[in-house]
Amino acid sequence: MQIRILTASDVKKALPMPRAIEAMRQAFGQFSAGKSTVPLRGRLDTEKGTTLLMPAHLHESRDMAVKIVSIYPGNPGLDLPTIAATVVALDPQTGMPLAIMEGTSLTAIRTGAAGGLAAQLLAREDSRTVALFGAGVQAKTQLQAVLAVRAIQKVNLYDIYEDAAKQFVEDTRTWPNAPIINIVSNPDTAVGDADIVIAATTSATPVFNGDDLKPGTHVTGMGSFSPDVQEIDEKTVARARIVVDSREACLEEAGDLIIPRATIDAEIGEIINGNKPGRQSPEEITFFKTVGVAVQDAVAAAAVLAEAQQRNLGISVDMS
Ligand SMILES: NC(=O)c1ccc[n+]([C@@H]2O[C@H](COP(=O)([O-])OP(=O)(O)OC[C@H]3O[C@@H](n4cnc5c(N)ncnc54)[C@H](O)[C@@H]3O)[C@@H](O)[C@H]2O)c1
Repeated sequence: MQIRILTASDVKKALPMPRAIEAMRQAFGQFSAGKSTVPLRGRLDTEKGTTLLMPAHLHESRDMAVKIVSIYPGNPGLDLPTIAATVVALDPQTGMPLAIMEGTSLTAIRTGAAGGLAAQLLAREDSRTVALFGAGVQAKTQLQAVLAVRAIQKVNLYDIYEDAAKQFVEDTRTWPNAPIINIVSNPDTAVGDADIVIAATTSATPVFNGDDLKPGTHVTGMGSFSPDVQEIDEKTVARARIVVDSREACLEEAGDLIIPRATIDAEIGEIINGNKPGRQSPEEITFFKTVGVAVQDAVAAAAVLAEAQQRNLGISVDMS
């Protein structure tokens, strides 16, 4: 029995953003058509932290995987990351494991790609300016993904830690399609001229004022994932047409929508499948909320594995 082992660097090589966006189209389309099996997330608590088990099987593309995510707040004291993720890709015909891959990089790429897909379907074609809240890991892949679908020229970047924002500018300087990134010191000045607003923060309270959004803006909110937490304010929710990754998951986890008792208009997969419209007018404000669904990991892992096999990335280990 051969298993391919893939590092973070292999995953990044194997899954460029345009391919990842295409993979998310497959994932959400099947998910909203009822062509996937996604059991409830398993949860294992220890005295030091929590481990989550996230399995998914997609019936049409025949992708199957389990992501294992450990959140151990004391890890930085041991010089280890707080969050560690691993994905095991399985063959749905035989149940045999096919690959083990680093999951934090996979998560960042697939989450960014979900935001990119939403921008492709919902942001105005002539979008040029992004307001980006948060300068961490997810913010980077969110921006990469939007750059893959719209000709962005300028980014207004706000992070509560200016050093994080400065590091972000440094890290993205060498991107071939890097836009101009202006660090703003006041969140209120970030949104006014933005065509696309992305919230990719760890904030428990709203990061901008929805009154400041101009008509036609598309908003992606991907940071908050607890029912009592709001990263996006109620004014945005009231002004926007709301699209989610999963109705069920968002009604369970997304305080942004649960607290204001928001009406969800569509799952992104319903738009992909042609059952709901994409952007309906130049003035429409749209809000895509994603909390993450395990189908994303399974489809992304299959795309990584296919490319890795073709390019012989990683190492193949005989387990027998
Ligand atoms: N939706 C999904 O599928 C999904 C997937 C992975 C992570 N997440 C979530 O995304 C969030 C960001 O993750 P990350 O890995 O990028 O974290 P990170 O720690 O690398 O970056 C978060 C950044 O947000 C900044 N921040 C906090 N409050 C802010 C505010 N009010 N305004 C502006 N910036 C602020 C922090 O200073 C930090 O730089 C987390 O909440 C994480 O759980 C969601």
